[in-house]
Amino acid sequence: MKKNMGARPLLYPLPLVIIGAANGAKPTWTLVGHVGVMGYSRVIVSLAQDHFINGLIRQKNKLSINSVTEKMLPDADVCGILSGKDDDKSFLFDYTLGDHGLPIITVSPISMECTVESIYNTPGFDNFICTVDSAYAEKECLNSEGEVDFGKAATVLFEFPGYNYISMGKVLGKGKTFAK
Ligand SMILES: Cc1cc2nc3c(=O)[nH]c(=O)nc-3n(C[C@H](O)[C@H](O)[C@H](O)COP(=O)(O)O)c2cc1C
Repeated sequence: MKKNMGARPLLYPLPLVIIGAANGAKPTWTLVGHVGVMGYSRVIVSLAQDHFINGLIRQKNKLSINSVTEKMLPDADVCGILSGKDDDKSFLFDYTLGDHGLPIITVSPISMECTVESIYNTPGFDNFICTVDSAYAEKECLNSEGEVDFGKAATVLFEFPGYNYISMGKVLGKGKTFAK
């Protein structure tokens, strides 16, 4: 028998990511669990309106998305505790600039550069709807067909409100092969 848990988006676990944006000549990084995919080329990033990074994203209408692995968690955690309003977070990760000029984290197996297409506001949140301009994957995380092997990328997952970091489980098989 199911318990009614109230009006809550129980869609967890979700991939944990670090959102990057240019802060002058430096980057700033914010840890985010509330991200999603829209269609085949768009993503949504849900950020509380009082976060430091929102203003910087709005300035250029650009953000980067960087996957988090287990060994990144100590620094990723800092990105989710400190605000760029008070602390410079640019030193936390080595980064390069992608083809579209956005800071992407070197140790992240997967990164994307995105352009903000629109901002859908919900109470207290800016929900950035973005086009993916470029996606990058570490070559060691590709399979023999040249596609991303998410098991090798070992992206950390996240659940709310428990605030637990979760590792990926095993592959059960391919979609469209289970129908009887
Ligand atoms: C595990 C974890 C997940 C988080 N997910 C989100 C999120 O999805 N959306 C959000 O607005 N803030 C999220 N936060 C909070 C921000 O990362 C945090 O408030 C950060 O300090 C804001 O940084 P900024 O002010 O420099 O942008 C999360 C924090 C943690 C620790």
